[in-house]
Amino acid sequence: MDRPASRLDFAVIGHQDSWANIHTFVNRIRTPEQGTLSVEKVKAIFPFIPARDLFRVTVTSRTGDTIKGVYIDTFIEPDKLGVTNLRTNLRKVEDAIAFAKKLEAPIVALGGFTSIFLEGELSPYASSNTRFTTGNTLTSAFIVKGVEQAAVENQLDLRSASVLIIGATGDIGRACVGYFQSRVNNLLLCARNKRRLERLAGEVKAGGGRCTSAIELSTLLPRADVIICVASSSNLALAGVKPEAIICDAGYPKNLFRDAADRPGFLFHGGMGQVEGGYRFEPDYTDSFYQYPAPDIIHGCILEAMVLAFEKRFENYSSGRGNITVEKVEEIYRLSLKHGIALAPFFNDNGLCPTRPKVSSI
Ligand SMILES: NC(=O)c1ccc[n+]([C@@H]2O[C@H](COP(=O)([O-])OP(=O)(O)OC[C@H]3O[C@@H](n4cnc5c(N)ncnc54)[C@H](OP(=O)(O)O)[C@@H]3O)[C@@H](O)[C@H]2O)c1
Repeated sequence: MDRPASRLDFAVIGHQDSWANIHTFVNRIRTPEQGTLSVEKVKAIFPFIPARDLFRVTVTSRTGDTIKGVYIDTFIEPDKLGVTNLRTNLRKVEDAIAFAKKLEAPIVALGGFTSIFLEGELSPYASSNTRFTTGNTLTSAFIVKGVEQAAVENQLDLRSASVLIIGATGDIGRACVGYFQSRVNNLLLCARNKRRLERLAGEVKAGGGRCTSAIELSTLLPRADVIICVASSSNLALAGVKPEAIICDAGYPKNLFRDAADRPGFLFHGGMGQVEGGYRFEPDYTDSFYQYPAPDIIHGCILEAMVLAFEKRFENYSSGRGNITVEKVEEIYRLSLKHGIALAPFFNDNGLCPTRPKVSSI
């Protein structure tokens, strides 16, 4: 696709994960004359706002290239991400998709739950001018590389470790299973649908991997040396976990209870990358949207659109469910590093974790 230089290079469709962020943002864009709104008032208005672009983003690659994108919010209510609101949420995602197509963004990432509502089926929305990606391949890459790095820093040999994946049958979960099944001693797989879970466990065993699966999380938690949280649920409890277990919570919103970071051991928010060349929001809403303890950190799914835009790979790169191969994880991670987009420093709700990951080189 040849495109005029003035056009957008990418777009990101997303949703917010807390009313606190939304409240801050809404009051940030109101003038002093309009006054501030209470959380209750914001909650009453928010669901009626149609999908729209909130700010432009400029990103610089290590190669010196610069790309321009746009962030489009769906205005999905953060406490209504479940199936009960599916029809409304689907309509909001489809409105945001139509908006991105109108802007002729050549590659569009559907962040967080926006792709989950569509079950990753993005191809029907693609047009000759606009392609879509869930961004789950780069998210998976940052999760698995982050876990490997955390294991090195915490002197854990993954080859003798039991690795629990919560949300194992999901798109990102399956990518993590595929990556680790030949690299760890034992996989512990958890999800709520028993039939899908047992089928996955059967595939792992058929491929020569060792694994145990259970729909009851409590039976697996005490056995895990590493826990990867990639479920589409929140407020999961960590009862009975080994104190030294390494935990990667990559959920958006977070899968674990907010107090999870207070436990002993190493817990980090996974699936996150950091842009070496930095990025700029216009208008600059970083004070309302930026919640990270280090600069230039972004979700892997959003970064995937940026990497594809730098590479001019305008294709439905991550689409459907269960299609993420180890080869694609390695490919997008290599391309990401080429543009100076690396694993984010480890952090959680309490700030930066005491040690930093070493930035991998290509
Ligand atoms: N960090 C990032 O950049 C980033 C990027 C994209 C997505 N995400 C987040 O990553 C998570 C997974 O995304 P995805 O696209 O892989 O979702 P998905 O395909 O819908 O998979 C979700 C998985 O979670 C399981 N699950 C849901 N609730 C569970 C519970 N209470 N206990 C155990 N398993 C449960 C589901 O299986 P059952 O239904 O059978 O339980 C399924 O295996 C989401 O939170 C998403 O927002 C993060």
